[in-house]
Amino acid sequence: MVEPINMQHAAHQLVVRPGRFAFGEATPAHWIADKPELSQMINGASLVMPFLEPFLIASIQAARGQIADRALDADAAGFCGQELQHLRTHRRFNATLTARGYVRIAALEARMRADYAKLQTRPLAERLAYTAGFEAMTMGLTKWVVSQRAMLFAKADPAMASFILWHMVEETEHKCVAFDVYQAVTPGFARRAWGVLAGSLHVIRLTRAGYQILLEHDGLWGQPKSRLKVWGHALRFVQHTLPFLVRAMLPGHDPRQETDLDWVREWIAGYDALVARSGEPEVMPMIDPGAPGMPTPFAALQAA
Ligand SMILES: [Fe+2]
Ligand SMILES: [Fe+2]
Repeated sequence: MVEPINMQHAAHQLVVRPGRFAFGEATPAHWIADKPELSQMINGASLVMPFLEPFLIASIQAARGQIADRALDADAAGFCGQELQHLRTHRRFNATLTARGYVRIAALEARMRADYAKLQTRPLAERLAYTAGFEAMTMGLTKWVVSQRAMLFAKADPAMASFILWHMVEETEHKCVAFDVYQAVTPGFARRAWGVLAGSLHVIRLTRAGYQILLEHDGLWGQPKSRLKVWGHALRFVQHTLPFLVRAMLPGHDPRQETDLDWVREWIAGYDALVARSGEPEVMPMIDPGAPGMPTPFAALQAA
């Protein structure tokens, strides 16, 4: 007998962690002091999240009535809980950008609202394929950001770097859920492969539209030096994500085959230990961008 795929899934229950990161009105848009272009590229992605992530949640929620396996259904609930925290936290940060006078954000948001309203009318199978496909891209993004954190975030605002890395950690943690739900509810290889491209390319297009308006506002978009930096960051993003996208489009793909980074595992264990010791934190502990190797925010707490 073939073991159902979701039987392998309940090893670690998904934890919904409030996104209580200490960024605020004073947080600069260029929150990586030496990398304004990368700051705005990540901010461009942040602008998409309050539109994308509700769509991911709605897709998974719509499938939940058809999930027979209890462990997978619990994972689906955990996935939705984590994504809800992500989008709320991104929304809170995005409001600081709007407050800084980036007036064109409103038009972009209207476009994204319309895009996702239209996508919402597509059949469930397509919405789940998009959801699983986008989640495949986040594995590549996570690998890039987490493995290169010491270089990317050395001069970052600690609260912002901690926030982005938290999002990446949880993307790894729930990397199988959308795939498992798709396989359980609307399986089919060709549509799944289409979803990898459709989900990823759509979000990349919206992210690019976001960072373009932010960098235009800054007066950097027209500067050759800045544009070269944007290209460099985009190239490194593609280098890291493309292998994941290709693998996700192959028959027989399973996100479990992708190896998690040790730092992600340490982050999860560190948070668990912190909660066991002193309960859920009022404010999320922050990484120290200057510390060699940029350990998890919990490493210093554990050593103390
Ligand atoms: Fe997310
Ligand atoms: Fe996700």
